[in-house]
Amino acid sequence: MPMPDSDVVHLRAGGTSFVVELTEPVPRILHWGTDLGELSEAGRSALRLTAEPAVLNNSIDSPRRFSIWPTEAEGWSGTPAHQGHVEGSATSPRPQLAGAMSRQLPEGAWELVIELGDEISGLDIEITYRLTAAGILEVSAGLTRRGGTDDPGPYSLADACTLLPLPGRATEVLDFTGKWCRERAPQRRPLAFGSHAREVRRGRPGHDSPYLLAAGVPGFGFRTGEVWGVHVAWSGNQRYLVERMPEGAGTHAAVLGGGELLVPGEVRLRPGEAYRTPVCYFGWSDRGLDGLADRFHEMLRARPSHPSTPRPLVLNTWEAVYYDYDADRLIALADRAAEIGVERLVLDDGWFTGRRNDRAGLGDWTVDEEIWPGGLTPLADHVHALGMQFGLWVEPEMVNLDSRLGRQHPEWILGPSAGLGPSARHQYAVNLADHEAWTYLLKSLDAIITRYAIDYLKWDHNRDLHEAVRRAGDGRDRPGVHAQTLALYRLLDTLRARHPALEIETSAGGGGRIDLAILQRADRVWASDCNDPVERQAIQRWTAQLLPPELIGAHVGAEQAHTTRRVTSQSFRLATALFGHAGIEHDLTGCSREELGRLAAWAKMYREFRPLLHHGRVVRADVGDEATMLHGVVSRDATAALFCWARLTTSAEGQSGRERFPGLAADRDYQVRIRGDAGYPSMHQTAPPAWLRHALDGWVGIPGVILSRAGLPMPALNPEQAMLIEMRETRK
Ligand code: DGJ
Repeated sequence: MPMPDSDVVHLRAGGTSFVVELTEPVPRILHWGTDLGELSEAGRSALRLTAEPAVLNNSIDSPRRFSIWPTEAEGWSGTPAHQGHVEGSATSPRPQLAGAMSRQLPEGAWELVIELGDEISGLDIEITYRLTAAGILEVSAGLTRRGGTDDPGPYSLADACTLLPLPGRATEVLDFTGKWCRERAPQRRPLAFGSHAREVRRGRPGHDSPYLLAAGVPGFGFRTGEVWGVHVAWSGNQRYLVERMPEGAGTHAAVLGGGELLVPGEVRLRPGEAYRTPVCYFGWSDRGLDGLADRFHEMLRARPSHPSTPRPLVLNTWEAVYYDYDADRLIALADRAAEIGVERLVLDDGWFTGRRNDRAGLGDWTVDEEIWPGGLTPLADHVHALGMQFGLWVEPEMVNLDSRLGRQHPEWILGPSAGLGPSARHQYAVNLADHEAWTYLLKSLDAIITRYAIDYLKWDHNRDLHEAVRRAGDGRDRPGVHAQTLALYRLLDTLRARHPALEIETSAGGGGRIDLAILQRADRVWASDCNDPVERQAIQRWTAQLLPPELIGAHVGAEQAHTTRRVTSQSFRLATALFGHAGIEHDLTGCSREELGRLAAWAKMYREFRPLLHHGRVVRADVGDEATMLHGVVSRDATAALFCWARLTTSAEGQSGRERFPGLAADRDYQVRIRGDAGYPSMHQTAPPAWLRHALDGWVGIPGVILSRAGLPMPALNPEQAMLIEMRETRK
């Protein structure tokens, strides 16, 4: 590999700099964060010089360094980049620089590949840094066991993670937790000494997925503060880590990173075999969490695979009919859906053989002839004839013991030979790493997609994987999550290659499997099973920390939410579901004329605003009162915006006060109006602020400087209400 011209390699894109010095034995990271501009020779030398910290008392006798692959060999006492052994030996790696190459990629991205060799563990390690045009740094590593005649046995890789340094001013940590129907609940804490490690052993990211681990300056908010974050793009077991050592990391204070969480013995590398870490996406922003979200959205939108067609309005049948299938009822539902402007109908769980409830049928991916004597053709044809796409729910990785598959192929079930552990939702996972099981699933899905011209699959995964043990070729039980995850990717990739127009939604009991690796194979995430708009406002707000709205499924549910029993107004439900890839999950055949009328008006508004909502910049205001939220989407040229002012609960304060609208241009003039197409919110006051009285009647001119800097006095809405505010730049 040819070495770059300079020993200081500067990757620079999207307002972010990443600088590495190609020193021996292992290159070190000089900088990650704000753009340093064109670095002169003097600048490079100064970075080199200032990367050398003091030598501490009672410490190693040379200045500490933080390398790209930290190990004990450099006096690093924190989490090492990799750990492992060969039969209890080769436990202390000594990596050594073997080569490096940097190059510019299309669209302004940069890549740096560094090769290390380690004689002790017999590994060649190749680390790839790719700085995207949006300023997100993708980091991954490949570890290949060297070949040789003298084989001392497989190298058991315990752990491999990618780490970047954090400066001392990043003292506050934000990550996420959650549960079914309450995904991506944020949690904050000070960054103390020691490790804050989040380890996921669910075989999927989970409802409590850390999702994005961020560290920033004290009090960093949506709009302000410097913040660094990492996302692990992996759909199996995983770990996130932020670690602060008293001796620091070179001249930095802490480290941030992550990788796959490996079970002991899961990866054993024989000569010639390789392991690749998941990609960790690292982002930096000096514009708070919105700046970070903006980078991720920009990067995702630049992918060639990013959905490019307008996101069709969905009707999903789950909360409309559950398992209560009746062909005539579904035809009537499809008719209503088409009337109000739905563009894609998704037949959820329950259409396949033996599936009358959640206890049976998983694995038997053929149409249930008892319910559908002529197969799905009449419904699929009807839906297509109404001009809608037709989608189907599947959960291919799962099996009920009460199914043909479960009875005929118990050997395909993922679990130890000592016997299966507890079922979850009455189901177990299929061992996808078993070639026959994998082929069976591929053939079954392929046949269904082809026969019914399926446009869309909602791909579910309704349980954590426990004791995910697979029977290996040698007849022994081996850890299975790593192999399962790769086999899942192969299955999705193969189906997509065979059906290039097919779109896929990732669901896992709601939002239990949302990560950027599954999103290379999916076009939408089902953010949560909770359609209650109060919960949804929060779930969508934080799901958007990583994903742009067009990838986030958001449905209007029934007046009384099925998952919380909370009763909310239709206008609040509609306003909430607008800010995503919108859909309906509601029995339209039971709706009144008025309700259907508002749904139709909302569907029209969704079509009107979707170019803005699905291409613009997501903005979230830092509002002092947690009972309220102000968020919106502003076009990238700041000429148009749609905001949502939502009140979740009451407050002790009477006036809501002035709120500033983020993302607008202070030097332009705007007109503002309230959109009530889908209903207006009810207010907790006898008369609204003066500007609002006018905006409820039509356009009101307000300069950008007032909107964005002084702010507008906001109305006090009743709890569980939302108001939609449209803004447009005034044409001169
Ligand atoms: C869990 C999903 O998140 C729901 O939307 C629904 O598809 C059910 N599974 C069906 O079993």
